Parts: sequence; structure tokens; C-alpha cells
Amino acid sequence: MTAIDFPARSLLRFITCGSVDDGKSTLLGRLLYDAGMLPDDQVEALRRDSLRQYPRGDALDFSLLTDGLDAERQQGITIDVAYRYFHSARRSYVVADCPGHEQYTRNMATGASHADLAVVLVDARKGLLAQTRRHTYICALLGIRKIILAVNKMDLVDYKKDIYDSIRVAYADLAEQLGIMAVHALPVAALSGDNVGAASSHMPWYVGPTLLDLLETISIEPLEATDFRMPVQWVNRPDQSFRGYAGTICGGRVRAGDEIVVQPGAHRARIARIVTADGDLPQAHAGQAVTLTLDREVDISRGDVIADAARPAPEADQFAAHLLWMGDEPLLPNRGYWLKIGAKVVNARVTSIKHKVDVNTQASLAAHRLQLNEVGYCNIDLDHPIAFEAYATNPALGGFILIDRQNNATVACGMLDFALHRATNVHWQHLDIDKQVRAGSKGQQPRCLWFTGLSGAGKSTIANLLERRLSALGYHTYLLDGDNLRHGLNRDLGFTAEARVENVRRVAEVAHLMVDAGLIVLVCVISPFRGEREFARSLFSDGEFIEVFVDTPLEECERRDPKGLYRKARAGEISNFTGIDSPYEVPETPEVHLRTRGTELEAMVERLAKRVLLHANH
Ligand code: ADX
Repeated sequence: MTAIDFPARSLLRFITCGSVDDGKSTLLGRLLYDAGMLPDDQVEALRRDSLRQYPRGDALDFSLLTDGLDAERQQGITIDVAYRYFHSARRSYVVADCPGHEQYTRNMATGASHADLAVVLVDARKGLLAQTRRHTYICALLGIRKIILAVNKMDLVDYKKDIYDSIRVAYADLAEQLGIMAVHALPVAALSGDNVGAASSHMPWYVGPTLLDLLETISIEPLEATDFRMPVQWVNRPDQSFRGYAGTICGGRVRAGDEIVVQPGAHRARIARIVTADGDLPQAHAGQAVTLTLDREVDISRGDVIADAARPAPEADQFAAHLLWMGDEPLLPNRGYWLKIGAKVVNARVTSIKHKVDVNTQASLAAHRLQLNEVGYCNIDLDHPIAFEAYATNPALGGFILIDRQNNATVACGMLDFALHRATNVHWQHLDIDKQVRAGSKGQQPRCLWFTGLSGAGKSTIANLLERRLSALGYHTYLLDGDNLRHGLNRDLGFTAEARVENVRRVAEVAHLMVDAGLIVLVCVISPFRGEREFARSLFSDGEFIEVFVDTPLEECERRDPKGLYRKARAGEISNFTGIDSPYEVPETPEVHLRTRGTELEAMVERLAKRVLLHANH
């Protein structure tokens, strides 16, 4: 017996977008039903549910199909993307059904990032809404180049052609502005099924395909023919005899024997085998998941990119990128986040927000921060170079997410646009005299003592005494005081959250240079945010950074009020005052915790001196 060889069904991934009440669920349910793609048990359940809802009617209420999701939403439980899978004889479909409310933009972005096509619903009575513009913008941003515009509820506007035409023309305008060239428009009435699965007898003026026909026949281009690229998802090393690199090829093709380069970097090797569950392949192409083995040992880790040696991907550590902010807390420039691209994770900072985009009008607006659901065009700085490609060319090497380092939440999705040239043209200059030599000539181990605490907690007083003590003992020290630095280096900065992030970043960088110069550095800044103190810590080697929490209760600081600032803050003369109307995030595990109330100043200085001097000498 010979096996019957079915032609492979092509896969179409699409997303449905529309405002609440545009009839998305009904359209989707009707589509599945008319196409015979709903399993029998679901049709039965639908019939039962519809009868319960409308005891005397015999019509099916297709919106009930996705109502499970709505119920969850109303209770505020899982608000996510619902994926549905179905197939016809010609195609397999994955459809992402995304909530319509503005606050769920992030879910829409998640759905759109995996879609080849979007079905945008517009209510014929309402025409284009702010939501339509927002959804279309996000589709364009995430690289969707094909859209089906379904003008729904035509039955409620008497199937009038001129209404349909004016919406079609307005939408074509919008799509063109956003660079979406392929829009297929059609008039439908989802409730009755007109032009969904079967042509409508009510709209003889429309002679195009039905929605189902469109979905079945619309062409989806395969991944662009770029050069060979494969991000390594994991290193497969079951025993000494086998070492393979597993991943999904995201560009071009590869053959056994091809020369490749491991990026970032310049290590080269040749492909020995292309291994799959069904045996070895002579070659493989974009979209295939494979395990590659090489003809020699090369150091490759998860997240590295294996690329064509003759045409490797560009590498850089500074980029211009679009960001769609999904965090409940705003994006603050210069705050550190994890950036995950493919399987690679690096430290990243947004160095500037060039502008944010009004998603409803596409206007560029000035911005100092990005709030939930806002889109910004930003410069991003990484602590390590990565191999990348523009998102528009290769989403797998240009799409990334940002992760909050404190709670591991995904706070943004982003699309790399291009590398900033200064990134590729600035190199590290080698210097012969290094930290060890400089510290050695001073006979000490450099350190950074980072004093954090409320204004008036006693940071500068304690640090000042400690410095006198160390200096008297012959150590080389420097005290970086927040107030003093704000007269010079940081005189352009105020006290908003974003200004403090930048203030602390600069102080940390200066402290780092001073430690590199071999000094024992005492830093006194409120540094109210954990994230920035963690950033400061990350600049130093193990043991070099000593976080000192000067813990004085707010009432006590306010009672002392050495500069009269608390009084002014309470009177409303100063805003964003730490502890009053601006937060202070208490250190969780400082190296030294000084509870100042009831402790002698001298005892605290003694304790710190011991801590520094313990390992201070070479
Ligand atoms: S930080 O928050 O950015 O780390 P930094 O330590 O540099 O602050 O500066 C804090 C000092 O600025 C305080 O000791 C106080 O003298 C002064 N100051 C003026 N306005 C404020 C404010 N709104 N909040 C906190 N400190 C302020």
C-alpha cells in the first residue's frame, strides 16, 4: 500500500481587530460555522447556549462562542489574547482574537506580532473610530502588511453602497499613510452571514470575494530571502560525543559544508550536520527548526546567532527603536532594564525618547516618559553588542521585549530600526596603567561606599566623619555629595523621577571612574529607587560596592529638617520631595544597615571604618 500524499496545507495566522461591539465574535463565529470549520460538539453547545439565551428563537448567537473570554474580562481575570485554531481543506488558520478596549493594546500587540494579516472590523454606522486608527497603527508597527477591512452591520445601514464606499476610501487613506499597501475591503453583515461565507443577495453592487474566499486565497509571501541566520535557542549536549545548536532558522538557507560565523564575534566553522527528528537534512531554510553541528569546537551559548560567514548580520550596542510601553509604571529614560531578543538577554537603557507617537493621529509629540500603551521612538543603549537586523527586514532579529529587573514583568515590546553610527565607531582604547596599578601605588583596595537614605537622614554627616578618619590613616579618598554635584555636573537636573534616574546614573559613572583611579569613594545621594542603586552596583566588581542604608525614620528627618526643606515641602513650596510626595524605596539587602536613631555617630563611623579597612590593604 502506498501512503496517500496530501498536499501540505498552507498556514495563515491572522488577527481580528475592532472596537467593542463591532461584532468581532459574531463575525468569527459565523465564519467558522459557514465554512464548516466548527467541530460538531461546539455547534451543539452553541445551539444549547443560544436557546437558553433566546428560548423562542432558533438562530445561533455566534457571539456566545467567545463569551467565555468576555466573562473573564468582566471579572478582571485573564485579560489576554485568545488563540483559535481551525482548518479548511486548503489552509490551516491561527486566529488571535484581541480585546478591543484601549487598555488592552498590549494584548493586541502580542497577537499582531505573530500575524501575517489583520481583519479590521468597522461598524458601518460609526465609520472609522479612534480604535480603528490605533489598531491599524499597531498592525503597521508590528509589520503586518496585509489587511482585510470588513465593513460590518451593513444590514443596519440598508446595505447602502455610498456608506461602504466612503469608509473604504477613508481607510485606504489611513493605510497608505502607514505604509500598508494591500487593503482588501468588503461589506458584510456578520449576524446574517452576508458576504461572510456566502455572497450577499442584499448587496449585488459588491462583486468581490466573500471573507472566507479572501482568507482561503490571499497570498502570504514566505519569509524574505535574506542571508542565513539562526539564533541559538539552546545548546544540546547529551554527552561528550555530541554537541548541537538548536533553533529555528529565521533567514536564508544553510547546507552541510557551509562556512558560518558565530555572532556577536568572529569565530568561524563549517556546518557538519543538519539534524532533525526525522533524520539529517542536506539543507534547511527559514522557518525550519533544526539542530546544527559544526566541524570544530566553538564557544557558542544560548542567544548567539549562527550566520553566513560571507554575509554576517550587523552588530551594534546602540539603536534607534520603536517601543510600545506595556508597563504599569512609566518608562524612565536611563533606567536599566533587561532586553531580550531571541534567546539573548542583555542590560539595556533607553538613553532618550526622541518623541512619542499619538497613535490616533500619528503626530509626533515631545515626551520625557512613556506611559502604559504609549508608543515612543527611542535611542537604546546595551551593555553588550548583539547581532541584529531591522525589524522590518527580519522580525526575529529585530523584535525584542524589555523586562523590569525588579519583578521580571514584561514592560515593553520593541522594534529595532537601525544602529546608531556612534555605536559602531567608538572603540575601547587600551591603556597600560590599570586600576590595579593605580590602586597598588596608593597601597589600598579601591571601594565605593554608597550612602542612601532620606534627605536629612545623616548621610553626609556620617560620610564626612568617615572620610576624615580614613584620610587621617593615610588612605586616598573622595566624597561625592549629591547636593554638591547638583551645583556642577548635575546642575541641569531637577527632582522628577526621570531626573533622579539620570542624576544617580551620572554619579554612579563618576564613582566608577574614581574607583578605577584607585580611590576609596564615598557617595551620598538619596538615590530613592532600587533599580538605579542596582545599576550602580552592576558597574563594580564583587565586593567593591558597599551599600550603606542610612535608616532614619521620616518623622525624625522632618523634626531635624536641617535645611528647612521638609517645612517648605509640607507647605507645598517644593514638589516631588522624597518621603512627602515622591517615593523612597527602602534597600532590601544593604551591606550595612545603620539605624541612626539612638546610635552614637562615633559608633556608626567606627563600624564603617572597620568594614572598609578589613580588606583595604593590599
Ligand atoms: S537624588 O534623589 O537624585 O538622589 P540628591 O541626593 O542628588 O537626590 O539630592 C538631594 C538633595 O537635594 C537633598 O538633600 C535636598 O537638600 C535637595 N532637594 C531639593 N529638592 C528636593 C526634592 N524635591 N527632593 C529631595 N531632595 C531635594
